[in-house]
Amino acid sequence: MGQARGDQPTGPTSWQIGPDSARIDALEGAVIDRTDPILEQISREDLKAIYLDGLAAIAAAADLAELAEVRVRFLGRKAPLVQLLRSLGELPVEERPEVGRVGNLVRRTLEAKADARERELESWKLAQTLEHDRIDVTLPGRYSPLGRLHLITQTRREIEDIFIGMGYEIADGPQVETEYYNFEALNTPADHPARSLHDTFFVSEGILLRTHTSPMQVRYMEKHRPPVHIIVPGAAYRRDSDATHTPMFHQVEGLVVDEGITLADLKGTLETFARAMFGADRRVRLRPHFFPFTEPSVEVDVSCMICDGAGCRLCKQTGWLEILGAGMVDPNVFGFVDYDPELYTGFAFGMGIERIAMLKHRVNDLRLFFENDLRFLRQF
Ligand code: DAH
Repeated sequence: MGQARGDQPTGPTSWQIGPDSARIDALEGAVIDRTDPILEQISREDLKAIYLDGLAAIAAAADLAELAEVRVRFLGRKAPLVQLLRSLGELPVEERPEVGRVGNLVRRTLEAKADARERELESWKLAQTLEHDRIDVTLPGRYSPLGRLHLITQTRREIEDIFIGMGYEIADGPQVETEYYNFEALNTPADHPARSLHDTFFVSEGILLRTHTSPMQVRYMEKHRPPVHIIVPGAAYRRDSDATHTPMFHQVEGLVVDEGITLADLKGTLETFARAMFGADRRVRLRPHFFPFTEPSVEVDVSCMICDGAGCRLCKQTGWLEILGAGMVDPNVFGFVDYDPELYTGFAFGMGIERIAMLKHRVNDLRLFFENDLRFLRQF
């Protein structure tokens, strides 16, 4: 059988196909064989023409869409061959068997050729796609820079972990607060300097940006009965701006209320915290101070982690570093939340996250935290 490649009309051929060429070597759909035994069986010229034209058109179909048109033209309902087979009854009786048999043979053969051509075109298309979409898996991957947590976030989480380890829960409260929760219920009278327009961002009459996280003490106690042990991390706002003050900053509030809580519990708790945060050798001292919502109130220092108390530049030769404010909850505050001050006592504390981070990592300017200079942020 002469599979003469020279007879082959336009369109892809196996040797152009590439990777899968071996599988579609047969090229049944694209080759016309002049010694085709079927041709010898066809005596009617019109059938012979249909057959040869059909074979040529199928072989010439350069893509699947073209092949679909060829199918319609030669094998569709209105195709001359199909019409001829339908109208067998109108032919002279003696011609009917031959036209019926040979006509059907032609139809089946054209269908088979079209199917073969279709498979061939599909493989060709796939090969083209594979060739076209080839990727080089040895190329380096696309670089996507990996970020990191801001030092304030890292420090907040570190503080949270330490207190969670002591059995505290984490509570969260609104940053837009009422004067009632921010001042009034914290025993801070209207003539207290902190309440002036000068120090506080007021949003509207009686509404402000909280100046500390302490208002959550009241909000939490309103909704829960003792025992209470919470910390409240979050942002706070004050009208301040210099190397040690920014208008927005972060605090962690702490509150413990139960029967029999004493100042010794406060000191032990803060010592545990200071050692976990700044090193096992740290000592803690309490100095008398004043806050409206605690009585007594203290400021808490930790022994300097650079000189261990001997005196150096960081601690300004004092050997101590202030880390937070604290005290025993003022019974007046319990009055606002309906806790019995004869039954319950508690302690509270509030620390600046920025200050803790600055001490721990020796950062000397608070503003660095908020300038978003990657050269600074990447160091942590
Ligand atoms: N709220 C105080 C401030 O922002 C810090 C503070 C002091 C919180 C004593 C407390 C406390 O809970 O008991 O300056």
